[in-house]
Amino acid sequence: MKIFLDTADINEIRVAARWGVLDGVTTNPTLYAKVGGAPYDDVLREICGITSGPVSAEVIADDLEGMLREGRHFATLAPNIVVKVPMSETGLEAISRLADEGIRTNCTLVFSANQGLLAAKAGASLISPFVGRLDDINQDGMIVIRELAEMFAIHDIEAQVLAASIRHPQHVTQAALAGAHIATIPFKVLQQMVHHPLTDRGIAQFKADWEKVQGELAARRGS
Ligand code: E4P
Repeated sequence: MKIFLDTADINEIRVAARWGVLDGVTTNPTLYAKVGGAPYDDVLREICGITSGPVSAEVIADDLEGMLREGRHFATLAPNIVVKVPMSETGLEAISRLADEGIRTNCTLVFSANQGLLAAKAGASLISPFVGRLDDINQDGMIVIRELAEMFAIHDIEAQVLAASIRHPQHVTQAALAGAHIATIPFKVLQQMVHHPLTDRGIAQFKADWEKVQGELAARRGS
């Protein structure tokens, strides 16, 4: 399973890239609003300079012409831009039109397998079911991931299932086991995945034991 970072924070993206675990990035208006400070285009260009993997840029317009205009514009920013289009009747049409023009799209705000199926048929290359937001309303978000992954495998559909709205490390494990092709992960969750109390304690213990022996050797040399 590929790992994308779900952020518009350049520093977080640089760190994940240095760790060698970054396959792409997803942004949305909320994530962009959290960092602010620079025009969205500049942020996107900078992200695309850090990773050659897909970088999702979300349209704001809710009318067809606006979605197409914004999508075409994002596609000029870098070759690895993927235009994020919300699931809707207009969104499907925009996805289809952009696909005809060779522009890759990520259908966002997907909450059911049928929505994902339609987005894939319209030509989206990435389908983003929101796991955490489904869990929030007492529905098992992972079911949509599993259903879509199975559906795409059975019918040989090219679109990839991108598990979004990931809230904790268990979501990542569950998404991988449910067949998600990609999980987009907040930086905090990525850090949580690195750490384990026994790993951290083990590192401290090895260091302490090593230093204890070095101290004893130094004392012996001095006596
Ligand atoms: C990513 O593509 C989505 O926009 C994001 O994962 C949504 O996450 P949230 O539900 O935590 O806002």
